[in-house]
Amino acid sequence: MHDLLAAVPRTARIAEGAFFLGGFALPDEDRVLAALHGIVAASPFRNMITPGGFRMSVAMTNCGTVGWVTDRRGYRYSETDPETGARWPSMPAVFADLASRAADRAGFAGFAPDACLINRYEPGARMSLHQDRDERDFAAPIVSVSLGLPAIFLFGGSKRSDRPQRIPLEHGDVVAWGGPSRLWFHGVLPLRDGDHPSLGRCRINLTFRRAL
Ligand code: SIN
Ligand code: FE2
Repeated sequence: MHDLLAAVPRTARIAEGAFFLGGFALPDEDRVLAALHGIVAASPFRNMITPGGFRMSVAMTNCGTVGWVTDRRGYRYSETDPETGARWPSMPAVFADLASRAADRAGFAGFAPDACLINRYEPGARMSLHQDRDERDFAAPIVSVSLGLPAIFLFGGSKRSDRPQRIPLEHGDVVAWGGPSRLWFHGVLPLRDGDHPSLGRCRINLTFRRAL
């Protein structure tokens, strides 16, 4: 059973074009988690290597037409999973629909993601400040869905040196950014240990993008 108050969306503007949608994904929780299990069974989580040779603390997989990958050759989108050699699992309708509705709520009508990067944070895992800029054009927003353990999301500005806001994200929260803040720096502080009733000792983040 969902807590009825927690299911009431709390919307807040983070920056120009950036919005926090509290609890937006909660009504879809069961269907999203079921779809997630199917994806991970076909394309398991793995810790990829950065172009600089570091293994990422966040484990990743993807679904959609293309998936985001990194290795010694660089960051890019790939039609196939380099681990399995097969295409990434297709994007479940519940994922695409959730992302599109969240984007709409944030003022970006007609968002049709073709890529969903799935990040798994275990205690201590973090994502340093970065821009999402491997997509072909930046007209579409980014929609980010948080599941499992809470985390602190950092949302900076157009320069890496801009002091980031700290935004606590919980299970079911969504952040969407685009337009003026499409290329703004963001990241995640090291995950604190805990035990989430649905996902255990981890946080899962779904990042929806229009890559092609
Ligand atoms: C990302 O920027 O790719 C991940 C953001 C998050 O985990 O909330
Ligand atoms: Fe990102």
